[in-house]
Amino acid sequence: MIQLTVNGKPHKADVEPDTPLLWALRDSLLLTGTKYGCGSGFCGACTVHVNGQPTLACLTPVSSVAGKKITTIEAVDGTRVGKAVQEAWRKLDVVQCGYCQSGQIMSAVSLLSANKKPTDADIDAAMSGNLCRCATYVRIRAAIHEAARALA
Ligand code: FES
Ligand code: FES
Repeated sequence: MIQLTVNGKPHKADVEPDTPLLWALRDSLLLTGTKYGCGSGFCGACTVHVNGQPTLACLTPVSSVAGKKITTIEAVDGTRVGKAVQEAWRKLDVVQCGYCQSGQIMSAVSLLSANKKPTDADIDAAMSGNLCRCATYVRIRAAIHEAARALA
C-alpha cells in the first residue's frame, strides 16, 4: 500500500512500490483521465504534474512520488492557468479523437505556469514530448497563445 497525495487529497494505492504511477492512478484510484499511449516515455499521453513539474506517469515508479503533490487532468482546472488552458482548448475546438489531449493540456499548463508569453519556438520545445496521431498541433499552438492572451 502506497500513500499518495493526488489532486489535493490523500489516497492509498493498493499496488507494489515499483508499479508505474499511471496504473496506480488509473486502476487503483480510478482516475482514468490520464492515458496509456506507449508505456515507454515516447508519447506524453500519460503526463501528470508532480510538484508542479510535467512527469511521465508510465515511467515513474509510484514509490518515488509518495509524499509529493500529484495533479492529474481531473483537477487541472483548480488553477487559473489550468482553467484558461481548458477554456482556450474549448474555444478553438482543439480536440479531435481526444486520446492525447489530457497529456497535451498538462504540458501546456506547465509551460504557461513557467512562461507567461511563450513564442512558437517555446511552445514547440515544451510540447515536443506530446504526440498527437490526429495532428492537432496547429490548434494546440494557437490555443496556448489564446490562453496566454487570456491570462495577460
Ligand atoms: S504512455 Fe507514457 S509516454 Fe507514452
Ligand atoms: S486528438 Fe487524437 S491523438 Fe491527439
